[in-house]
Amino acid sequence: MKATAKAHTNIALIKYWGKREEKIILPTNNSLSLTLDGFYTTTTVDFQEELSADIFTLNDQSISGVQYDQVTKFLDLIRKSAGKDNLFAHVKSINEVPTAAGFASSASGFAALAAAGSKAIGLGLSDQELSRLTRQGSGSACRSVYGGFAEWEMGKKADGSDSYAVPIAPADHWDVRVAAVVLTAKMKKVSSREGMKRTVDTSAFYSGWLDGIPQDLKQLKEGIKHRDFEKVGQTAEANCLKMHATTLGANPPFTYWLDTTMAVMQTVQAMRANGILAYFTIDAGPNVKVLYLPENEKSVEKTLRDIPGVTDVRLSKPGQGITYL
Ligand code: PMV
Repeated sequence: MKATAKAHTNIALIKYWGKREEKIILPTNNSLSLTLDGFYTTTTVDFQEELSADIFTLNDQSISGVQYDQVTKFLDLIRKSAGKDNLFAHVKSINEVPTAAGFASSASGFAALAAAGSKAIGLGLSDQELSRLTRQGSGSACRSVYGGFAEWEMGKKADGSDSYAVPIAPADHWDVRVAAVVLTAKMKKVSSREGMKRTVDTSAFYSGWLDGIPQDLKQLKEGIKHRDFEKVGQTAEANCLKMHATTLGANPPFTYWLDTTMAVMQTVQAMRANGILAYFTIDAGPNVKVLYLPENEKSVEKTLRDIPGVTDVRLSKPGQGITYL
């Protein structure tokens, strides 16, 4: 009753920003992401009759507290589906997602845990079922079941049965690159959970955010289909700015940006003015991700590294979906 799975993180080009149901994680809008090859988690789940509680190690360190509780709560879902409520597991995760790179390791973490856990206990899930299960650990993680571009369909039903990711185009459809720009961030973080909740509950701009989603999705999908980098980049950058605008309209207002975040955004726009096509996107934190094409890799990397306050730049290609080892 043991399985190992590897899952990559993903970067949203149309953001998931807001829940309509918190417990089983149902979003207020569809989102669309690119799975990234450079950042991943490998997890082994080993169910053993003789265990009386779960054990969780992350990068060879024994974990307790909030992270442990998240893992056991998620395994409870798997145990329940399998009708094996009293079967506990040894979970070993190795995380290749540096927290400093500003990626939520939750996406690759929950996708790998869902895949390894459901396989180890013998659930035999389809990709769609696996995405639905993964969603209940962390919303954005449901898109990491697939490689390349994936869309999380929000669904309509209250039980979440129609809320899961679907593949849009595989990793080898198009070699779009992403640079993760790491900043020296010393700032009290508003978690994505808290940020979404405050925004949905109070932001004067939230309805505007939702109104723009259908058009953004349509443009992004057309851009991906025709490998139209300008269209994809413009749509992703504008969607990111709209998401971040909602935080300024919340009560109390907040922003994830630092001065260095804005310096990177302005540098990316200056690159474009100089003929190098690059676009930015930003999640619930200060770090910036820059989209570019392979032929511009050298100049994009150098320009980003030269910005004062940038401590590292990590480059990534499109990545694969879940694999079992
Ligand atoms: O899945 P969570 O709770 O880590 O939320 C992710 C939210 C954003 O990263 C801001 C957007 C997204 O779609 O990934």
